Amino acid sequence: MADIFERLIKNYGPLGEHRIKAHGYYTFPKLEGEIGNRMLFRGKEVIVWSLNNYLGLANHPDIRKADADASAEFGLAYPMGARMMSGNSNHHEQLEKELAEFEMKEDAILLNYGYQGIMSAIDALCGRHDVVVYDAESHACIIDGLRLHAGHRYVYRHNDVEDFEKQLQRATALIEKQNRGGILVITEGVFGMAGDQGKLKEICALKDKYEFRLLVDDAHGFGTLGKTGAGAGEEQGCQDEIDLYFSTFAKSMASIGAFIAGPRAIIEFIRYNIRSQIFAKSLPMPYVVGNLKRLEMLRSMPELKERLWKNASHLQNGLKERGFDIGQTDSVVTPVYMKGGVPEASAMVTDLRENYSIFCSIVVYPVIPKGHIIYRLIPTAAHTDEDITTTLNAFSETKEKLDAGIYNVEDVVHMAEAR
Ligand SMILES: Cc1ncc(COP(=O)(O)O)c(C=O)c1O
Repeated sequence: MADIFERLIKNYGPLGEHRIKAHGYYTFPKLEGEIGNRMLFRGKEVIVWSLNNYLGLANHPDIRKADADASAEFGLAYPMGARMMSGNSNHHEQLEKELAEFEMKEDAILLNYGYQGIMSAIDALCGRHDVVVYDAESHACIIDGLRLHAGHRYVYRHNDVEDFEKQLQRATALIEKQNRGGILVITEGVFGMAGDQGKLKEICALKDKYEFRLLVDDAHGFGTLGKTGAGAGEEQGCQDEIDLYFSTFAKSMASIGAFIAGPRAIIEFIRYNIRSQIFAKSLPMPYVVGNLKRLEMLRSMPELKERLWKNASHLQNGLKERGFDIGQTDSVVTPVYMKGGVPEASAMVTDLRENYSIFCSIVVYPVIPKGHIIYRLIPTAAHTDEDITTTLNAFSETKEKLDAGIYNVEDVVHMAEAR
């Protein structure tokens, strides 16, 4: 018989295999100091481009005060128990009411975390005769939610409406054959890696022709898109056709927790059937009160979203003018596509951090195909023009070095911290 532990330590996986050289630097880095456009990395100030603090709320003095006051008043314990049993409060219900109003839906339900919340929602919504049709580049939480689904699923090529319709036809044919079940379509408002919006309008238009319900994960659109910040559905003019709207609080709200908004009867069904909430302690009060404050600011301070977009446009236009490939983004998420191996990428990122004081996330194989490198930049309302100009100049210089082969190294640069 194999010993499970022995097998695990023989192969740490495609990311884990780099840990000896990477831990504490490329992986598990520690950004210290106040959350903002500039933070400390290994004791040195860097311009930070990897936090989803879109509206710059994380460290706003009013937010810090609301968080501190709520923590002093309630502590992390209150309320004890799951919502259904003993963990409910007027504040939880107030936040749900305000989120529903903001998203132009009848009702909303709070979730402790986005990841397990949407997984569990998929589990609650779908019976074994139902068929899920979903985008190939859906976030891991959707993919893991589908692992809980005992019925069929059909994946369509990313944002390919023609293929989407083909998969809808397959799903419809299967349901007709089974003579049972329905179709749930799942996609995202904004795909967080490439920054392209899901084709929600086109998907919704097919509701005239096919029968399905639509669940949208709008983690990156909430607070950043649409006239009021209600997200990708509002931006594309199809919020009404989105049956269930999901977002986490982990991005624009710079907090913890998530929610799903939709028709009252269905939210009520979820409330009484979602296992991740029924069998888990409810969100602690400081999170709920802190999220109420964040939502109030998100709604009443449109200048935050305006500043975010001003910075995003400055960054994206600057990159394009300098000849960088930023793909199909139509959100503030800004990918920069380059070519190179994992060791080269590590050398370039080390140069950027050590000599240009710029901290950004880098995506390499196996997350993307071999030979490709993506810098993933997240502009926020807190960045300054100077941050952007400095970064653009550094990118031009390091790209020249990349093209000239200066980062050609044999192996990943050893930057791990001593452990
Ligand atoms: C698209 C998307 N959905 C869901 C989640 C998970 O949300 P949470 O961090 O609240 O678990 C994330 C990441 O945070 C995300 O990017």
